[in-house]
Order: sequence, then structure tokens, then C-alpha cells
Amino acid sequence: MHSTLIGLGLTSPVLAAPMAGGGSTPALVVAAAKAGGLGFVAAGYQSPAALAGQIGQVRASGVPFGVNVFAPNPVPVDRRRYREYADLLRADADRYGVDVSGVEPIEDDDHWADKIDLLLADPVPVVSFTFGLPAARVVTALRAAGTLVVQTVTSAGEARAAAGLGVDLLVVQACAAGGHSGTFTPDRIPPEIPLPRLLGEVGAAVDLPLIAAGGIATPTAVGTALAAGADAVSVGTVLLRSDESGASAPHRDALADTRRRTVVTRAFTGRPARGLRNEFTDRHSAQAPAGYPALHHLTSPIRKAAVAAGDPERVNLWAGTGYHNAAAEPAARILTGLTRRL
Ligand SMILES: Cc1cc2nc3c(=O)[nH]c(=O)nc-3n(C[C@H](O)[C@H](O)[C@H](O)COP(=O)(O)O)c2cc1C
Repeated sequence: MHSTLIGLGLTSPVLAAPMAGGGSTPALVVAAAKAGGLGFVAAGYQSPAALAGQIGQVRASGVPFGVNVFAPNPVPVDRRRYREYADLLRADADRYGVDVSGVEPIEDDDHWADKIDLLLADPVPVVSFTFGLPAARVVTALRAAGTLVVQTVTSAGEARAAAGLGVDLLVVQACAAGGHSGTFTPDRIPPEIPLPRLLGEVGAAVDLPLIAAGGIATPTAVGTALAAGADAVSVGTVLLRSDESGASAPHRDALADTRRRTVVTRAFTGRPARGLRNEFTDRHSAQAPAGYPALHHLTSPIRKAAVAAGDPERVNLWAGTGYHNAAAEPAARILTGLTRRL
């Protein structure tokens, strides 16, 4: 394993990926560390106070951990297309008494500055960014505070830009990954590049330790990623049904249904993301304009109501291509099982 990861105290190259929206819990982060890897508190969608609370819970257990933050990289939505899309969602919204007709687009930055202030005031071992690059001064300040900085990239070009900022490690995320793509150009659906090829391209472009992510859900896939140049791997979907996951009941149940397939869609949030096909993705994937976070806020009340009603057809069922390997077991067993062939 790379000295940077050994320096954090890691004994396993299998990390638990950050999963905002409930998937990552403090218990999952602690379980990943106890299995010899590393877990991430997912700052996305959380208030700064809630984030501080989760950091406090993980810190109390005395294990190394990371915090993952959405870097602002908004794609302001075209207002006319937003309106048209809201109209197209009316049947889904009406089903739950949600009014989407007069809702203005929200273009917020998920409390970016407050979250960075929090991480500088009370530094954590690792901070990772996705969706885009932070300003160089943020990377410099975090590193000066003793924090290792990790950047998610989806191409060699993004890797070069991240390396230019002086980050310590890269997460190389292939399009097989569950959840949002970390692409810096979210107005385009990312190309389907297999993870080993992407690792080769990034490894040829930059001299940084690489953490592979996207579709890794078996011991063989872990071995393939490491053989292709990764120093460690990061798994998300395969942990979503674990005891420590905070995924909703409809999400867990849908993951157990192996007849579903995954699709990349911006129907839920306006940013490309991979999830299980359902009525919502079938109906709206071709209609949805680019526009994160405006579409995220627009569909959020529908999705929340659908979760409460146990309706998987109107929920963002984020899942990577290896979702059928997600088992309902303790996270530590899943993570150590993935190292079986090493
Ligand atoms: C439910 C879910 C939520 C996610 N949330 C985040 C997030 O908040 N931040 C992030 O960097 N990546 C997020 N991701 C992507 C993961 O960190 C990781 O790249 C991905 O899960 C790896 O692919 P896999 O799901 O096939 O293992 C999420 C993925 C899932 C499945």
C-alpha cells in the first residue's frame, strides 16, 4: 500500500466511499476503520451543525476518518426548461400532494464556506472533494492544518487539474459508480470508460496515489483495480444494505431485486448519476435538463414522500453496476470479504 495510506494507519486497501443522503452513517465510517480501511462522513446535503455532530460521533471512537464535501460546480438551470420539467413532474408530485408548479429554482452551494470553515477550525485527518475543484487556497489551508486532501476525478484531464492544486490523493471514479458522477462537466453524460482503462490513463497523466471507485463489488474486482494501478479501492453500493447503512427501506429492498438494471440519469437532480431503473427514470431521463442543484431541490419533496410511502418507483435508487453483490450483513464482514483474494 502507498505510504500516504499507511501513514493514516490503514491496514486494508478497501475504503468505504462517502454516500450522502443517508447511506453513510457514523457507524459505517467507524466500521470501515475497524476493518482496517477508511470511511468518510458525507457532508453533502447536511447543515454545518449536523455535519459537526457526525464528525464528533466518529471522532469519539478514536479512528482515522475522512469528510467528503461537494465542491460548488453549479450548472444554472435554463428557467424555461426548468418550468417545462416541473410541469412534466406534476403527475408524480400530485400523487403525494406535492406542489411543483410555482417552485422557483434554488441555486445554493450546500453551505460550502461554512463547511470549509468548520474543517479548518477543527481539522480532520482527510477531506475529499467531488463535483469539482476547490480553490487552491482551500487546498493549501487544509494541508497546512494537517489534513490530507483527496480529489475525485473522472478523467485524465481532471486528474491533471487536481494535481496542479497540490492534492495528496485522487479518487478515480469510473462511470460504473453508483450515485452522482464527480465529473467537472456535469452538463455532459460521462463516457463509459471501464475502470482499469481509466486508471491507466490517469496513472499515465499524474504521479499521485490513486483510489479506484466504480462498480467494485467482488474480491476479483478489487484485485483487478489494484493490478491496474490503484493503491486502494473505494466501495459504495456494496455497503448500502449493510447493517450500518442509513439507506432507506425502499432503496435496500430495490437493491435486493436483481431483475432491475442501472441507468445514468439526471432526472432526479440535474447532475448525471447512476441508479436503478424505475418508473421515474424511464419516464423522465430523456426529459430532464441539466441543472444541479435546482433539479435536486425540485424533486426532493417527491422523493421524500415516496420514501415515506415505501414507493421505490419515485425514489433515486442510487446503485453502481455491481449492486447485485450488496448483501445485508455487517459492514466489516463485507469489507474484509472483499480483501479475500489479496
Ligand atoms: C447512495 C450513494 C451516495 C453517494 N454520495 C456521494 C457523496 O456524497 N460524495 C461522493 O464523493 N460520492 C458519492 N457517491 C459515490 C461514491 O462515493 C463512490 O464513488 C461510488 O459509490 C463507487 O461506486 P460503487 O457504488 O459502484 O461502489 C455516492 C454513491 C452512492 C451509491
